[in-house]
Amino acid sequence: MMKPSVLLTRRWPNVVEQKLAEDYDVVLNRDDRPLSEADFREAIAKYDAVLPTVTDKISAEAMDVPKARTKILANYGVGFSHIDVSAAAKHGIAITNTPDVLSECTADLAMTLMLMVARRAGEGEREVRAGGWSGWRPTHLIGTKVSGKTLGIIGFGRIGQQMARRAHHGFGMEIVVYNRSPVDPSILAQFNARQISSLDDLLPLCDFVSLHCPGGAENRNMINAARLDLMKPDAFLINTARGEVVNEHALAQALMFDTIGGAALDVFDAEPRINPMLAQCDNLVMLPHMGSATKEAREAMGFRVLDNLNDFFKGSAPRDRVA
Ligand code: DGY
Repeated sequence: MMKPSVLLTRRWPNVVEQKLAEDYDVVLNRDDRPLSEADFREAIAKYDAVLPTVTDKISAEAMDVPKARTKILANYGVGFSHIDVSAAAKHGIAITNTPDVLSECTADLAMTLMLMVARRAGEGEREVRAGGWSGWRPTHLIGTKVSGKTLGIIGFGRIGQQMARRAHHGFGMEIVVYNRSPVDPSILAQFNARQISSLDDLLPLCDFVSLHCPGGAENRNMINAARLDLMKPDAFLINTARGEVVNEHALAQALMFDTIGGAALDVFDAEPRINPMLAQCDNLVMLPHMGSATKEAREAMGFRVLDNLNDFFKGSAPRDRVA
């Protein structure tokens, strides 16, 4: 029997590429070069499955291909706002993602960012490397204590809950939550958390605000100038969700005029391009979208895609079908 043909749009961990190649007729992207819209149109005409990831914008035009062959976009990653979901539905293309397996590592990175910005670790590291450290003194690089403070979590899915677990049980933080739908009280009880019904009511309560909601048009600019104004003047914003959730111009203004204490970002609106205003802000920590970047998570993400493909080509419902 012919194996289904599968295109990987980027390099994946070796063990997963090898396993995929045993079960499928796989084309790898050995140069790890991002694909263009024209490449996607060609891929959708040619392969049974395309395995994209967060760097691949798959628009309605890319899917509008005569005699399209692709039946599934098995995404490597949990977020899928880079795929035009309604166009995929129109062309009968299924979409799957990779939840769960990256939640702990992404929450670990959100904690890393929270601690870095509160304790001015980025500034300290830059100072040491630049040879500018003149020695210990009581007033040097004074930061903000994290333990016992109030953390607002926006989006209380799997990653948001892992963040709450770390912050509450590890750092004794009080947890307040904003989520589109009501959160099961037994889940809130695990972290002694309170759900606040409006984002505008949550923001003034928080010493730290961490974003864990999906990206996409619906949440674009959710954190805008008005919302930044609702934050305490010494509060910190952490974003490991998607760049578009934060209006970067408004954030840069808030950081430059010290209307908030600082921010830490792992994701950017036009990544890998960085808004030049952000680069000027010292009270900002920036990392290159590495929330899930551990060997364990990246391999597990690949194997989760494989599970979804296996289900799909066996004719059963893939466990992570999102559209
Ligand atoms: C995702 O999974 O959506 C991340 O942004 C990459 O791990």
